[in-house]
Amino acid sequence: MTTPIIRTESLTRFYQRGPHEVRAVDGVSLSVSTGEFVALVGASGSGKTTLLNLLAGLDTPTSGDIWSAGTRLCDLSARELARYRAQRVGVVFQTFNLVGHRTALANVELALYFTDIPRHERRQHAARLLEDLGLGDRLDHRPADLSGGEQQRVALARALVKNPTVLFADEPTGNLDSDNSDKIADLLIDLNRRGLTIVLVTHDQELAARCARRVVRMHYGKIVDDSSTEPGESAP
Ligand SMILES: Nc1ncnc2c1ncn2[C@@H]1O[C@H](COP(=O)(O)OP(=O)(O)OP(=O)(O)O)[C@@H](O)[C@H]1O
Ligand SMILES: [Mg+2]
Repeated sequence: MTTPIIRTESLTRFYQRGPHEVRAVDGVSLSVSTGEFVALVGASGSGKTTLLNLLAGLDTPTSGDIWSAGTRLCDLSARELARYRAQRVGVVFQTFNLVGHRTALANVELALYFTDIPRHERRQHAARLLEDLGLGDRLDHRPADLSGGEQQRVALARALVKNPTVLFADEPTGNLDSDNSDKIADLLIDLNRRGLTIVLVTHDQELAARCARRVVRMHYGKIVDDSSTEPGESAP
């Protein structure tokens, strides 16, 4: 049994909206092992993004715990948590969250700001990755001057450039045509083969089946199914 890189216990995240309580994440106990590729699926509103944000240390739970490589996130100081986010996890947001007034290159380079990579190497690193993702001729474009699919690839480059231990990707192919979507799927599969742990949120059953050996299904904030396939078997 490999070590869990992420583990949660009875995790909840409730939102209070006037008299109503939205149980976005409702008692999730989940363990993700080093090197796993997990697809998180479920209907719109089932809590996928909320769970992903909690795992990435971007949001704090209402109750319950999250451990990352044995460290309980709620025991970290604000500074340590910022370090965790900056160095250990890469996040591709459903809505990209690129900095609008910065170029594609600068957006990716910015992700290296809190890492140990020497300043003079950051630009080179960022440019190389963008080139690998087919954006070599878009380095100087601002997000508004890029297509949705191109912005998505910049967001992916920004998440990957710091060599995270876990990649959290929220619908990373949601804005791509099938060709580009296939390319991103191939890239994710390759990164996972090289050891990157990936948690992928997707509506796309085909993508989930193609990429991930394990599919976790959410329904109204709870995990209702968690199934794995053996190598060579077709995914559920
Ligand atoms: N800031 C918030 N305040 C109140 N309710 C929220 C907030 N953020 C999310 N919710 C609610 O929590 C639930 C889960 O939302 P979440 O964004 O995690 O769903 P999702 O599974 O990612 O959906 P989608 O597939 O549409 O992206 C939804 O009912 C949503 O309306
Ligand atoms: Mg979402």
